[in-house]
Amino acid sequence: MHSAERLDSGHLPPPPPPPPPSPGRNIPFIGKLKPFYLLSILVLLSAISFSISKTDQFKKFFFLRSNLLNPTVQKQISRNPIYTAPYCVLWMAPFLSGGGYSSEAWSYILALHDYSMNKNPIFNLKIEQHGDLENLEFWEGLPLDMRNLAIELYHRECKLNETVVVCHSEPGAWYPPLFDTLPCPPIGYGHFKAVVGRTMFETDRVNDEHVKRCNLLDFVWVPTDFHVKTFTESGVDPLKIVKIVQPVDLDFFDPVKYEALDLGSLGNSVMGSFSNGEKFVFLSIFKWEYRKGWDSLLRSYLKEFSGGDDVVLYLLTNPYHSDRDFGNKIVEYVEKLDLEEPKDGWARVYVIDEHIAQVDMPRLYKAANAFVLPSRGEGWGRPIVEAMAMTLPVIATNWSGPTEFMTEDNSYPLPVDSMSEVTEGPFKGHLWAEPSVNKLQMLMRHVMGNHEEAKARGKQARDDMMSRFSPKVVAGIVSDHIEHIIDHTQ
Ligand SMILES: *[C@@H]1O[C@H](CO)[C@@H](O)[C@H](O)[C@H]1NC(C)=O
Ligand SMILES: *[C@@H]1O[C@H](CO)[C@@H](O)[C@H](O)[C@H]1NC(C)=O
Repeated sequence: MHSAERLDSGHLPPPPPPPPPSPGRNIPFIGKLKPFYLLSILVLLSAISFSISKTDQFKKFFFLRSNLLNPTVQKQISRNPIYTAPYCVLWMAPFLSGGGYSSEAWSYILALHDYSMNKNPIFNLKIEQHGDLENLEFWEGLPLDMRNLAIELYHRECKLNETVVVCHSEPGAWYPPLFDTLPCPPIGYGHFKAVVGRTMFETDRVNDEHVKRCNLLDFVWVPTDFHVKTFTESGVDPLKIVKIVQPVDLDFFDPVKYEALDLGSLGNSVMGSFSNGEKFVFLSIFKWEYRKGWDSLLRSYLKEFSGGDDVVLYLLTNPYHSDRDFGNKIVEYVEKLDLEEPKDGWARVYVIDEHIAQVDMPRLYKAANAFVLPSRGEGWGRPIVEAMAMTLPVIATNWSGPTEFMTEDNSYPLPVDSMSEVTEGPFKGHLWAEPSVNKLQMLMRHVMGNHEEAKARGKQARDDMMSRFSPKVVAGIVSDHIEHIIDHTQ
């Protein structure tokens, strides 16, 4: 799927679950999830006193409930010839949250689904919402074919002992969960053919609780060599760690297919005065969190440019445990900097804080001349990859996830000044990277002044995405590994 990391999950346990959906809204897993989870607690409790027979009942219920709930769909599915594969992959992820894990999970599901149309893998795919909250706005912004696919895959039927479970979420959501969510695997370990965890972190290490949780699984999939290193060094069993890169939908993020969005009508002016002349547009996309380096970005941009420069910076952002008042936050931040307002005024900064539907994201990238994200640490960096697929020249920090795909031929890797300590949140005490403010200034000016070079790197970016991260390539990697797991477990 095609999301920016606008509501990335995976750092803090989500807030308490939302109220039940209003009647008449059609969101597939809501409403079934909650009672089911309560039921699972009840059954697990009673399983302690009544031992195995209750657990068996529960297992039956778990894999039958969707059919009980929806006999019509079940009839349709049993006529579907695709249904003959002997094994199942139950992919559990926050499909309905719209965050980073959500969009990543969607990208795999779409890739694997397409792949299964041509090859005949030995497994069927089933999906289940898990690990984060449902976001109705996100669900309604999805293309209809994706929503239909979600419902179809949700209703598929699997047998416990023939199922490989993929827990695609932060390890706190894995069994037993540290917060209120349907756990993954749903009934603990030992019932399934195998259990795989897919996770990632943005700092230089993995904390002990998460290491312990990783080591309970059969395999841990991480997206980059950076993570193979940090997970191994933190104590996750190296034999369990497998690098599985992330796909990007190159058909969807294809610049030749789109007209640019009219950014002027979307953004709110925060700094600088209005100008409707020719402009060089820098775009950045992030949720409002210190990790994303929005402070470094503003500092570099406002130091380098002024109102006299034919340039504008658009920030697409949304709240992350914060309110929406980004304009004031920016102005306050700039007031505290020891920066003099240039004689010809501040360079222009606009904030877009409204929800941009998935289907419009390519048009947003299309409206920019360059993408910039001086983040302190990234798991993967979806907006970076999407911008690269859209042939934009990209400036992003040369550390953590993006080192998997950024080179000096396909982008502008931003050098790191130093490592700094994370001072708050669950990763307090870990290290991440401080991007160089001076080099960021130079790179932004450089990209603006070297059109042909920047264009060539953007083109190389899309070529590299095509050869390494196309859905077909990545689905092949995932599929091969799942078949390997099935062949090598009894
Ligand atoms: C799973 O269990 C069923 C019976 O419950 C059995 O018929 C089947 O062979 C088992 N499959 C595997 C892969 O062990
Ligand atoms: C980016 O980091 C890698 C090490 O991860 C290093 O080899 C490379 O020279 C760096 N590139 C730039 C432009 O700083």
